Amino acid sequence: MLIAMATASNAAPKGFNYDEAKVPELDLPDPLKDITDAKSWPARRTEIFTMLEDQMFGKAPAFEKKKLRVTHQAADSPFLGGKAILSQPTLHVAGCKIHLMIVRPVAADDAVPAFIAYNFRGNHTVHPDPAIAITGGWVPKVKNNKASEAQRGQSEKRWDISAIIKNGYALVTAYCGDVDPDFHDNFKNGVHANYGKPTPGEWGTIAAWAWGLSRALDYLEGNPAIDATRVAVMGHSRLGKTSLWAGASDTRFALVISNNSGCGGAALSKRRFGETVQRINSSFPHWFCDNFKNYNNKEDKLPFDQHMLLALVAPRPLYVASAEGDRWADPRGEFLAAKGADPVYRLLGTAGLPTDKMPAVDTPVHGRIAYHIRSGGHDVTPYDWGQYLAFANKHLKAPGR
Ligand code: GCU
Repeated sequence: MLIAMATASNAAPKGFNYDEAKVPELDLPDPLKDITDAKSWPARRTEIFTMLEDQMFGKAPAFEKKKLRVTHQAADSPFLGGKAILSQPTLHVAGCKIHLMIVRPVAADDAVPAFIAYNFRGNHTVHPDPAIAITGGWVPKVKNNKASEAQRGQSEKRWDISAIIKNGYALVTAYCGDVDPDFHDNFKNGVHANYGKPTPGEWGTIAAWAWGLSRALDYLEGNPAIDATRVAVMGHSRLGKTSLWAGASDTRFALVISNNSGCGGAALSKRRFGETVQRINSSFPHWFCDNFKNYNNKEDKLPFDQHMLLALVAPRPLYVASAEGDRWADPRGEFLAAKGADPVYRLLGTAGLPTDKMPAVDTPVHGRIAYHIRSGGHDVTPYDWGQYLAFANKHLKAPGR
């Protein structure tokens, strides 16, 4: 996090590059390779997915939906002064309890579309409403790693719940630490504990978090208030890396949003701009599978780059968002990756990302792929939500899409 803060200044942290002139010449693998028609894409997609699964995120175990058990933390209660309803189901899966917080518009006749997004420190940080249960698990950056009333509503600024509800969507959130606490303990806690220490090609924490989002979607498929065919998965930063992998590994997510996801998310690794593969694998050794460490300081040897992760979302709508001050996450690398996925979107008959030039700050471009670079730093703001809502309104509004 200190590093992320340092990026607000112009200077790169020592040993890292923020100078476009020093970016190595790019030789990106072609996501289409030799295919020229849409019907050949599924096989090529499987090839790319398997490569990313084996070399980067790690394979997650299969899960049988019928094993999902649900209890409720509390009775439903009115939310946002009666405009919405709060419900708090707990999913019991593979030794974990995933506590969902679902806020849905009160004035809905039919099942509503939804945004699903993890939070970093507990559901009670998302909004000050006292009915939201406080997480009992390990949380970062608080005394004794124990959550308390003191953090209630602390990250409210990042969640424009009023706008989400006003536009007719539900918000589904959960604390990512319910699935796997975000520190390296050699995979003894969280969902990994139930399956044993991963082999070098098996799931790290990001794949585990993505797997948890799929379990939430399993649950939503049986919830009559939510239209599970119209769920947008969104995530910020490490949780943006997660939303991308969730969207890639589970095609039931109808729309995918990466907010400032950076290295290991939407940013091209081969540019070595800002955070590098070596750096992310040493600061966060648990995020990716062990095979990914083979590319430390060897980005040129990667048989893929992040444009291919983005291409796995095609032809579903995809939003990649950067922030001007978030150089650690390489905004240009995020734009170029979105552009690199464009040929796949076009082959599949969509408009892709309709610009060749990186858009100016605060000038979004929305095609089937959307991109913006917002003024300001590494964060999620009402501006970002405004764009995601406009994009979702275009692509998710009609039932069944
Ligand atoms: C660090 C890390 C990034 C990550 C970010 C976050 O800055 O280097 O890769 O995206 O934390 O999740 O906030």
